[in-house]
Amino acid sequence: MASTQMQSPADVLAALGPGVGLCGELAPFAGGRRGLPLAQRLTEHPLLMAPMAGVTDSAYRMMARAGGADLAYSEMVSCAGLHYGGEKTWELVDVAPGEPDLAVQLFGTNPELFAEAAAGVAERLGERLVLIDINMACPVPKVTKKGEGAALMETPELAASLVAACVGAVDVPVTVKIRRGRRDGAEVAPEFARRMADAGAQAVAVHGRYATQFYHGEADWDVVRRVVEAVDVPVIGSGDVRDAREAARMLTETGATAVMVARGSYGNPWVFSQARALLIGHEPEPVSLVRRVDAFECHMRLLAATGAHLKRGRSLATWYLRGMPEAAYWRGRANECSTLEEFLGMTAELRRAMASADASEDAAHE
Ligand SMILES: Cc1cc2nc3c(=O)[nH]c(=O)nc-3n(C[C@H](O)[C@H](O)[C@H](O)COP(=O)(O)O)c2cc1C
Repeated sequence: MASTQMQSPADVLAALGPGVGLCGELAPFAGGRRGLPLAQRLTEHPLLMAPMAGVTDSAYRMMARAGGADLAYSEMVSCAGLHYGGEKTWELVDVAPGEPDLAVQLFGTNPELFAEAAAGVAERLGERLVLIDINMACPVPKVTKKGEGAALMETPELAASLVAACVGAVDVPVTVKIRRGRRDGAEVAPEFARRMADAGAQAVAVHGRYATQFYHGEADWDVVRRVVEAVDVPVIGSGDVRDAREAARMLTETGATAVMVARGSYGNPWVFSQARALLIGHEPEPVSLVRRVDAFECHMRLLAATGAHLKRGRSLATWYLRGMPEAAYWRGRANECSTLEEFLGMTAELRRAMASADASEDAAHE
């Protein structure tokens, strides 16, 4: 695909996906069997692309699902933003052509606004909405100082009322994503999760860090196991799932029904299919450097096709090109790019440099 002419995201994936070990056509979560209980769907389809604000736009989600993720989440979306804001906020919950369906994560503190947002999202997405997840995990002060995100773990009554409000507003399952606790050393996840399940949450995702740890330090997987023991609904493990082996290990070691991959998917959409291979006892194939460059290009074309801001390509370049010879130089080159043409010019130059490095190596061996 040489041209930079506008194409639909579905066309980009169909044309470039299979060549880089990704699916060219995406299937709905659990084969679209919406009538099945969420627990059964998660048991059979446990590999989830985690919500990441500023990262999991539709291009990112499509790459993850083409790489084998069973389901992907939107970035967290503010209920107040949906109520008071304009079309821009609503676009955060839209699926791109070719993206089959979506889990939408909402945040806020007001039960009426939650009910309104959940119902609005359900109406906008129809069959393409898989579930509504409530964010009770975000540690960012701008969010917690309003009582939102992880601060809800200190107000379980209010948190439960948000779950109940959403359950009353939509037909799809409502789930929550929580932390080990809000403050260092004060683990409340098991009893808090039980409370949310009692309020109607059909699954609980647990990130095994305290909110005060933000994204640093080690995630504790034992707390995932303790939540599994505390509740009857499926538990989704999150935290320090850096590669496919850890994704598979999260499932086998904690008893979690499903696993979320977050930063471990940076520049690595194949992490999901590799985890699936490991779960059935196969050794996954390593991904070559050339394939990583091709996948970066596919991702850039998806960003363009979904109308996203192409500057996102700068961090994507850092992730896809990690470990390449002269990676710092190529990072610098990507940081100068703003348009699709510029990014594709950079990847063409990178391919030439890789081919000539290979040629000199062959000559040295002759
Ligand atoms: C850049 C970034 C943005 C995130 N945004 C969200 C979010 O919007 N909602 C959420 O529930 N978790 C969010 N998370 C947390 C992840 O979903 C995940 O739980 C966390 O990163 C732990 O997994 P990891 O250690 O494997 O990265 C975010 C994480 C990162 C790194």
